[in-house]
Amino acid sequence: MADDLSSFAKDVFLVKACKKSTIVWRMVVLVFAMVCGVYICSICLKQISTQTKTGFLDIQVIKKPCPEPNIEPWEIPYVHYPKPKTFSRAECACNPVRNFAILSMQRSGSGWFETFLNSHINISSNGEIFSVKVRRSNISTIVETLDKVYNLDWFSSASKNECTAAVGLKWMLNQGLMQHHEQIVEYFRTRGVSVIFLFRRNLLRRMISVLANQYDRDAKLLNGTHKSHVHSPHEAEILATYKPTINTTLLVSNLNQVNGTTTKALEYFKSTRHIIVYYEDVVKNRTKLMDVQEFLKVPRRDLKSRQVKIHKGALPRQVENWDDVSKTLNGTPYESFLHADYRK
Ligand SMILES: *[C@@H]1O[C@H](CO)[C@@H](O)[C@H](O)[C@H]1NC(C)=O
Ligand SMILES: *[C@@H]1O[C@H](CO)[C@@H](O)[C@H](O)[C@H]1NC(C)=O
Ligand SMILES: *[C@@H]1O[C@H](CO)[C@@H](O)[C@H](O)[C@H]1NC(C)=O
Ligand SMILES: *[C@@H]1O[C@H](CO)[C@@H](O)[C@H](O)[C@H]1NC(C)=O
Ligand SMILES: *[C@@H]1O[C@H](CO)[C@@H](O)[C@H](O)[C@H]1NC(C)=O
Ligand SMILES: *[C@@H]1O[C@H](CO)[C@@H](O)[C@H](O)[C@H]1NC(C)=O
Repeated sequence: MADDLSSFAKDVFLVKACKKSTIVWRMVVLVFAMVCGVYICSICLKQISTQTKTGFLDIQVIKKPCPEPNIEPWEIPYVHYPKPKTFSRAECACNPVRNFAILSMQRSGSGWFETFLNSHINISSNGEIFSVKVRRSNISTIVETLDKVYNLDWFSSASKNECTAAVGLKWMLNQGLMQHHEQIVEYFRTRGVSVIFLFRRNLLRRMISVLANQYDRDAKLLNGTHKSHVHSPHEAEILATYKPTINTTLLVSNLNQVNGTTTKALEYFKSTRHIIVYYEDVVKNRTKLMDVQEFLKVPRRDLKSRQVKIHKGALPRQVENWDDVSKTLNGTPYESFLHADYRK
């Protein structure tokens, strides 16, 4: 009985052991299958995630195709990649563009200065856009016009289109600029527009140029056409034959007014990134134009202008009533204007 029992127990044990080992085997196989499954799943997930990652990268590549330009951090707000509505920037799509505005007054050499800039293959200075009144009727028309210029969608004889590296315009202080100065400064700040102030030191010479130009508007000395700028010494000579008479009663107050406007403009726009250029300094030494190119961050070039200066040489020969003018200005802050002359 005991033997039977023990053999029975042994049998049971064996059966149990046998059963246990198959269960263990099954468990092993199951665990193996599970591990395999999890492993395969994890690989699948990894592939899916890398796929979505590369997809994500693709999207980024499409959105921002241009490599980071090699510039200082402070320059970043002044660098733009415009996408003109009217044409494609083609091979120059990744060339950064800088926005500028030349702020000046009539008869300060800004037309001459602009022809120098436009002789650069990468600069488009679109002229006196705001001389047309409707464009400066209110701040919305001003902003609309500026947006078009800085998006390279403005067409003038100066536009260089796709390979422009600096785009801008010439803007006279009396063309809505002083009137809307607060909003314009804000626009310049948000759109990263750099300002080139172009002024004349000798306001008396400027006044002579203004009077002569006003006279020629009616007299039309050049074969019946009025010209503000000329390209030949012969034409310049003809225009310079007219000698204006300056009203000495108003002379000092006129000079005060021009000086005041200039000072105010510098004050209003002082928070913008700017450079001050004096006409006389460019006349004396063309290296001043290198400073301007450096300011605009365009490749340096030798700039040229075909324009010829109209009123050159000594002042006394350019004014009809020189003695009166001289007497009026002696002893005033403007006395130096009588003597300052060009060295060349
Ligand atoms: C701005 O001026 C334009 C053109 O003169 C005009 O059509 C527009 O209504 C004006 N806008 C505002 C806000 O005054
Ligand atoms: C300047 O213009 C030339 C010719 O159009 C172009 O090849 C070059 O990339 C431009 N340079 C810059 C700085 O935009
Ligand atoms: C005016 O016209 C005449 C004849 O057409 C020409 O010889 C002369 O050079 C012209 N003068 C100017 C300043 O254009
Ligand atoms: C100068 O201007 C004043 C004020 O406008 C005027 O009264 C005067 O007649 C002018 N003088 C000359 C010589 O034109
Ligand atoms: C022009 O100015 C530069 C520095 O701004 C100077 O080195 C150069 O000698 C000047 N040239 C003339 C002709 O005065
Ligand atoms: C122009 O105005 C400024 C500031 O009002 C003054 O400092 C400067 O001396 C004036 N210029 C002349 C030539 O008087």
